Amino acid sequence: MSKKKMTILDFQKYKDEGKKFTYVTAYDYTMASIVNDSETEVILVGDSLGMTMLGYTSTVPVTMEDMIHHIRPVVKGAPNTFIVGDMPFGSYNESPQQAIANVNRLMKATMCDCVKMEGGVEMAETIGAVVTSGTPVMAHIGLTPQTVTSLGGFRVQGGTPESAKKLLDDALTLQDAGVFSIVLECVPNNVGKLLRDKCKVPILGIGAGPHVDCQVLVLQDMLGMYGDFKPKFVKQFAQLRRDMVQALNQFHSESLDGSFPSEEYCFNKEVVLDKLY
Ligand code: KIV
Repeated sequence: MSKKKMTILDFQKYKDEGKKFTYVTAYDYTMASIVNDSETEVILVGDSLGMTMLGYTSTVPVTMEDMIHHIRPVVKGAPNTFIVGDMPFGSYNESPQQAIANVNRLMKATMCDCVKMEGGVEMAETIGAVVTSGTPVMAHIGLTPQTVTSLGGFRVQGGTPESAKKLLDDALTLQDAGVFSIVLECVPNNVGKLLRDKCKVPILGIGAGPHVDCQVLVLQDMLGMYGDFKPKFVKQFAQLRRDMVQALNQFHSESLDGSFPSEEYCFNKEVVLDKLY
């Protein structure tokens, strides 16, 4: 399939036209090429790779090198899909100068289409500086995994009128700072709707209900691959972990009973071997 790659301008066009789209993570060439074959418009090489690829218990240890290592093959594998590179914890929270230097490094090394940065009002100056320096930024508010300990753990955000208002303030301030879209994670449905209605830029929701402009999911979660934990907002559209374990077990049993490899998987040319003895 040769779908047309979405551009930054399309994000706003889709929002203005009320056209929904979808967004998933990928962290390697093969998975990126599978997503590229689908109708999915956007790929995030998320720092969730800390858990799904590297086996950490949080995104905090993920480094710039990890991100660059994983974004490069995704860009190669998904030429028709808009690719977002996540900025890891500690790579942009010291100063606007630090953020610009690391964003420039990531963009030059990977050729992805934009970066994503977590944080609300408190990060708006830094995020605005990155936008002004020439790289498009997708913001990420609500449940922000990099600072989850400050939020008191993985829990729904915006669950009171005050905290919902703070999320709206965050979104509007980031919009003024120049972000072209905002990921909104783990909030009640009507908070998702509020932000969708009040913001000009698209609201990309993960666990933010049905009203947002775009639905986001982690690929391993939605394909039923990641065994350890399933958040409430994840629908498993396939059971690939179960199917993969079944396939491995079939390979195991057929190899042991000799039914694999059968004729069709063998090189049957008769080589004259007598002279070798
Ligand atoms: O890193 C990630 O996968 C993310 C998503 C949860 C949006 O930030």
